[in-house]
Amino acid sequence: MKSTFDFGLIGLGVMGRNFILNVADNNFKAYGHDLDDKKVNALKEEGNNLEKIDASTNIETFVNALSMPRKIMLLVPAGKIVDAVIDDLLPLLDKDDIIIDGGNSFFTDTDRRADALADKGIHFFGAGVSGGAKGARLGPSIMPGGNREAYNKVKPIFEAVSAKYKGEPCVAYLGPKSAGNYVKMVHNGIEYGLMQITSEIYDLLKKGGDFTNEQLHQTYAKWNTGRLQSFLVQITSEIFAQNDHLEDGKLIDKILDKAKQKGTGKWTSQNAMDLGIPVPSIDIAVSMRELSALKNERIIAANLYEKPSIEKIDAEKLEKLAEEAMYFSFVITYAQGLSQLADASKEYAYDLDLEIVAKIWRAGCIIRAEILTDIAIAFSVDKDLPNLLVSKQFVDKIRSAVSSARQLVAYGAKNGIPLPGLSNSLTYFDAYTTNKLPLNLIQAQRDYFGSHTYERLDRDGIFHTEWSD
Ligand code: 6PG
Repeated sequence: MKSTFDFGLIGLGVMGRNFILNVADNNFKAYGHDLDDKKVNALKEEGNNLEKIDASTNIETFVNALSMPRKIMLLVPAGKIVDAVIDDLLPLLDKDDIIIDGGNSFFTDTDRRADALADKGIHFFGAGVSGGAKGARLGPSIMPGGNREAYNKVKPIFEAVSAKYKGEPCVAYLGPKSAGNYVKMVHNGIEYGLMQITSEIYDLLKKGGDFTNEQLHQTYAKWNTGRLQSFLVQITSEIFAQNDHLEDGKLIDKILDKAKQKGTGKWTSQNAMDLGIPVPSIDIAVSMRELSALKNERIIAANLYEKPSIEKIDAEKLEKLAEEAMYFSFVITYAQGLSQLADASKEYAYDLDLEIVAKIWRAGCIIRAEILTDIAIAFSVDKDLPNLLVSKQFVDKIRSAVSSARQLVAYGAKNGIPLPGLSNSLTYFDAYTTNKLPLNLIQAQRDYFGSHTYERLDRDGIFHTEWSD
């Protein structure tokens, strides 16, 4: 076989199959590989033109079909499988070939793999791909990092297949090493935060305003035409309208309230802790998935404690409060994720341009949202913006939304409705905008019991006091 295929893809699951079909749709010849012959045959059939798209279960046939330097993307589960696939490929590759990991790999794994492969003359880089199965087929947001020259060889393909925002491709080279995987990890952390907030607002509307599924559907649909316009608000609206296919009624009411996770949100939180960057709206979203999993314990505990009877709010009023509180909490969640990216950029020398990050998130990915237009402007005005909360783009909007967040958080506390995403966002805001926090007391305590020393407001230096005197 002639080595004429422009692009190779390993892992023909739903994401891989859709991505490779997207590549072929954009007039690149693409070759797939999977050990499962059913997946290989399904791709050949769907591709419907073996000149443009072909596949094999044999890795040698796959490698030999690709033009040089070979561009091979992996869309396989993160972890050991990525290493196993690289081990299989390695003896078959030539110097300057390129391997792109399109999965949600942990960023330090990407650095390790890139270093090991660089020694062998192979370019390896991570490229986060967001947008789920549909995105992969019709245009995902792609977040590549790594060696810039290697990326430039893949750039025409990625720019063609990516989502477009007003004609601009939602892909850009983000920075060296694992920059792409890191940005995708934080994207997912933000995704967790936004999902938690949308679910709390649903709970509030239902419990506080007796919203039916139809009203919820209408309300989220309406919000999706305003400043809350986003993929997550749009699909939430559609979810409320979905009939159950097994029983009467809407499907949402039959789904078990235990949320699973694959780990990327948790990694975001863990790494934020390592960096010393507070991301409480993301942390709590991870904790809530964990708490939701304790269903059996929750059932027992629910019988031990009475909940306050819920005092209802007028539906129109509640809808307005909810829109503002949701906008507020969404902005705060993006603010936290982006401040983590700003810090990680320094710590890991990624040299990220957060305006570009915001721009490539405007279409294709799960956290695409109208808010990102303002976020991109905020970073274009100030590349080193430490936090969205101090950007002119947001100050007035946040000022006018915060009171609704306060009212709803207080309402939730009074009526026993858990709103941890909203309240963590509000607490973050209140702490971040407080000139003097009570942490002077913590410094005093640390010095009291451990001689850990403290600094003073009124003079420079490090101090210690013999408190027991
Ligand atoms: C995306 C998503 C995707 C992620 C799923 C599942 O950007 O397309 O972030 O990469 O894997 O959303 O994540 P959890 O199973 O952890 O919820």
